[in-house]
Amino acid sequence: MKIAIHLSLHFSLLFFVSCYGGDVYDPLENALKIQRSRRSVLNHVSNEDHSAEYSTSPVYMGPQDGLKGVDKISSLPGQPAGTDFDQYSGYVTVDPNHGRALFYYLAESPANSSTNPLVLWLNGGPGCSSFGNGAMKELGPFRVNADNTTLSHNKYAWNNVANVLFLDSPAGVGFSYSKNSSDYITGDAQTAKDSYTFLVNWLERFPEYKTRDFYITGESYAGHYVPQLAQLVLQNNKITNQTVINLKGIALGNAYVDDETANTGIFDYFWSHAIISDEIHDGIISNCNFSEGATLTDACEDYQIKARVAKSNIFFFDIYTPLCSPFSNSTPSISGFDPCTENYILGYLNAPDVQQSLHAKPVQWESCNMFVNTHWQDMPFTVLPVIQDLMASGISVWIYSGDTDGRIPVTTSRYDISKLQTSVKTPWYPWMYQGEVGGYVVGYENLTFVTIRGAVHFVPSYQPGRALAFFTSFLEGKLPTDH
Ligand SMILES: *[C@@H]1O[C@H](CO)[C@@H](O)[C@H](O)[C@H]1NC(C)=O
Ligand SMILES: *[C@@H]1O[C@H](CO)[C@@H](O)[C@H](O)[C@H]1NC(C)=O
Ligand SMILES: *[C@@H]1O[C@H](CO)[C@@H](O)[C@H](O)[C@H]1NC(C)=O
Ligand SMILES: *[C@@H]1O[C@H](CO)[C@@H](O)[C@H](O)[C@H]1NC(C)=O
Ligand SMILES: *[C@@H]1O[C@H](CO)[C@@H](O)[C@H](O)[C@H]1NC(C)=O
Ligand SMILES: *[C@@H]1O[C@H](CO)[C@@H](O)[C@H](O)[C@H]1NC(C)=O
Repeated sequence: MKIAIHLSLHFSLLFFVSCYGGDVYDPLENALKIQRSRRSVLNHVSNEDHSAEYSTSPVYMGPQDGLKGVDKISSLPGQPAGTDFDQYSGYVTVDPNHGRALFYYLAESPANSSTNPLVLWLNGGPGCSSFGNGAMKELGPFRVNADNTTLSHNKYAWNNVANVLFLDSPAGVGFSYSKNSSDYITGDAQTAKDSYTFLVNWLERFPEYKTRDFYITGESYAGHYVPQLAQLVLQNNKITNQTVINLKGIALGNAYVDDETANTGIFDYFWSHAIISDEIHDGIISNCNFSEGATLTDACEDYQIKARVAKSNIFFFDIYTPLCSPFSNSTPSISGFDPCTENYILGYLNAPDVQQSLHAKPVQWESCNMFVNTHWQDMPFTVLPVIQDLMASGISVWIYSGDTDGRIPVTTSRYDISKLQTSVKTPWYPWMYQGEVGGYVVGYENLTFVTIRGAVHFVPSYQPGRALAFFTSFLEGKLPTDH
């Protein structure tokens, strides 16, 4: 019996290697570890103004005529009957000299596509695919079934209310590539520039979206990408001969925006959610200084290791969901989300007919590119000043949080908001979804904070209904009340 349990634990650990999460595979932790040790060596002060880096030299504009038609997806293998919206995917070249091209997938709305807004969605990592994660596991129109070959319709997909554009960014991630592999050593500034170049070229390919209301959304490490890209868009909108992008707002989900709050928020969340002992929490409070420029002591490192050991084998990205294991295969969670979805996506997106129907270059597709992740160059300690600029710019800024995430927990987002130094306009209240509390809202000056109750790091996966309700409010520019 003991041996059997042992064996199955081992077996499930093997499974986790391909699952997005657990201690074995945490792209954000991997990148942060490297950045933090690099910072402590350089004693790098990164709060300086990075906007000069992002304000671009002339943007490359490539020919786009006729490419929209080429990008139209006739149908995806295994797609359910009755699929009633248009889909496009393909590449936009952002650097012709290097042969660098970014892959996108557009899911248009089934109804009112010509008037619904355009929303860009970005996943983080850094190095993780927005198409393979965001579209296939979270808010996209389809979920991959356990057979790896057929798709189910996600009735809570965000393309019900917006035309949603998923971008694999930067080059090297998902289906995006460069012919010059030196491009896979990259960072925040280049990612923002390339995403901007992508956008202005994509709008030439799809000119009907040029004046459409536009939003940038994303989660996790996209807490860096989204504000940085939004800032670049606003800066370039001021240059008269540049495409004006009608940016209306941004939404950041369980977002990594500040390194200090990312640390303090985790350990306070672990303690308040009965994952670590009082002793470990006290040890962290009294030995760790996570602020910029502070040195991490050995005692602090020790307590952090103790915390991770104490946490044990739970899914860091959601402290309550079942793990992907041989047992969970047959028993998806009550919400209908299957914790092994990641594996089915891997199988599906590596099928040659699927890659062909997506107009993708044949590749060994991976959820996250760990080379890009490990070699990440520039990563400012905080992007809170960028968010403050955006708040003052007049666009709408929303921070939302799935409240069962342990990776970038709701405590972290609340500490971020405290550092943003804005004032409460509409005090904390519950918002409702189908007669139950969907989460809580606070309206601040130039900022909205929304929690999604029972949602994980990947908010729409386990709470698709509440996620769509919150997203609809975001697009309407109204605080969620009752859905
Ligand atoms: C905009 O003007 C600048 C300066 O005159 C020029 O260098 C740049 O190429 C122009 N950009 C476009 C997209 O035409
Ligand atoms: C489409 O737009 C019309 C007019 O605004 C609205 O009445 C209708 O509910 C919309 N349909 C959907 C499915 O959103
Ligand atoms: C790749 O890019 C680097 C950096 O711009 C450049 O030095 C190198 O010559 C390029 N390699 C090729 C094969 O073009
Ligand atoms: C933490 O480190 C920062 C930066 O070195 C320093 O300014 C601050 O006083 C320290 N905080 C405490 C509580 O020691
Ligand atoms: C689905 O794909 C995953 C990842 O490649 C693989 O481990 C699994 O065996 C596949 N399942 C089926 C039913 O083919
Ligand atoms: C809110 O925006 C206005 C201008 O739009 C700005 O003057 C004010 O400082 C901003 N406040 C905060 C807290 O961002």
